[in-house]
This record gives sequence, C-alpha cells and structure tokens, in this order.
Amino acid sequence: MNEAGSGSVSSAINLAAYNSIADQWDAARSTLWGREPFYLDVFLAGMPKGAQILDAGCGSGRPMAENLLARGYSVLGIDQSAAMLAKARARFPQGQWLEAKLEQYPFADPCCGVLCWDALFHLERCFHQPILARIANCLSPGGRLMLTVGGSAHPPFTDSMFHQQFFYDSHPPQQVMAMLTALGFTLRLGEFMNPPTTGRDKGRYAIVAEKSMGRHDTIFP
Ligand SMILES: C[S@@+](CC[C@H](N)C(=O)[O-])C[C@H]1O[C@@H](n2cnc3c(N)ncnc32)[C@H](O)[C@@H]1O
Repeated sequence: MNEAGSGSVSSAINLAAYNSIADQWDAARSTLWGREPFYLDVFLAGMPKGAQILDAGCGSGRPMAENLLARGYSVLGIDQSAAMLAKARARFPQGQWLEAKLEQYPFADPCCGVLCWDALFHLERCFHQPILARIANCLSPGGRLMLTVGGSAHPPFTDSMFHQQFFYDSHPPQQVMAMLTALGFTLRLGEFMNPPTTGRDKGRYAIVAEKSMGRHDTIFP
C-alpha cells in the first residue's frame, strides 16, 4: 500500500536519506538499545495480547515491531521510506506495513497503542501537535503512546548519519508533555535517554503516556 504524497520539506530530505541508508540502518539497529526493554514493558503493561498497535515511523521493523509481534500483538507499521518498509515486509510478513507520511496520515483506525519512536523529531515542529492530536483521537480509552522527542530547546538542524544529511526538529520535552496533558493523556514515564551535551547532541527524551478514560469507559476494548 502507498499513501505517501509529496509531504513536507523535512520529509523530502529524510525520505531520500533513509532510502539510501536502509541497509546500514538495518544492520546497526538490530537490537533494543539502553532502557528500551523497560519502556516497552511500561507501554505494554496490561495490554491484552492481540491488541492492535500502530508503529508510526517503524523503519525496518526491527527491533521495535519485532518485539511487539513476538509478544503477541498485532502491528501496523507506517513509514515513508519504501526501502525501510521492504525490509520490514520481508522479515515480518505477519505485520501490516503501509507507506505513508506521518504529517498526512489520518490515524483514523482505533488502536490500543501507538509507538512513535525516533520519528517525530524528523518533522518540522509545526506538525507535532496535530500529529499528537490525531494519535490521541485514534487511541482507545486507557490506550498508550510511547514516544521520543528531542531533549532540549533548539532550532531545527541537520546532522549526518552514514554520510547522509537528516533533518531534525523538536519542541523541548516539557512542552511536549504539556501538549499531551492538554490532549487528555496522563504521563506514565518521562526520562532522558541521553541528556543534551554542550556539543552537537541535543539529547533525546522518552515518554509513555496513557489516554485518560471517561467515566463509562473500560480499559481496552
Ligand atoms: C531513526 S528511524 C527509527 C525507526 C524505528 N522507529 C526504530 O526505532 O528503529 C526514523 C524513521 O522515521 C521515518 N520517517 C522520518 N520522517 C518521516 C515522515 N515524515 N513520515 C513517515 N516516516 C518518517 C524514517 O523513514 C525512518 O524509518
């Protein structure tokens, strides 16, 4: 399937870059890093097996969607990079994989969990709140979002990986958490994965947030 239209400036830069480094990325990103196993446990706690999880910016599907599938969840991965998705499709045929841009994706189908891991900060920050609002709408009451954002206040920038330039932008973590609270989320976890340095590392911040339940809602359908 292909829902990827022309999209934003950031999309164009990152689309070409990720398509050209898909092999190197896939080789480098073969296992969970740092405290990711713990974040996944918080994200998945109490979520029934078989529940639908959307992996927004799924890359090659490894290791995050791989972990979700191995734990018995249904995964729909979306990504704008055909080269990354080709790896996910070949390796995990039990998942669903859709070529789409986050800034255009409607997030219309209900799901119990949304993972947006190391992807939102690849888009201009003007897209972030609208994407988070669409994610909030698609999550079932009690459903969860697992997200990374940049770890500091900074203007948009480009940086290189595997000799390609990538675009990055982010609101600082406190601002993202305020947005999520305003969208009806309760924060379950927020911590630096790597704090910003005085050098080129702007830091990275992990968030798990839960969609609040209404008075008559139950946890997960
Ligand atoms: C750093 S990789 C992370 C992949 C995966 N989430 C992981 O944790 O390994 C970022 C991914 O986001 C995707 N991406 C970047 N901008 C995007 C956009 N505007 N729409 C959809 N996917 C995008 C890239 O193609 C890439 O696969």
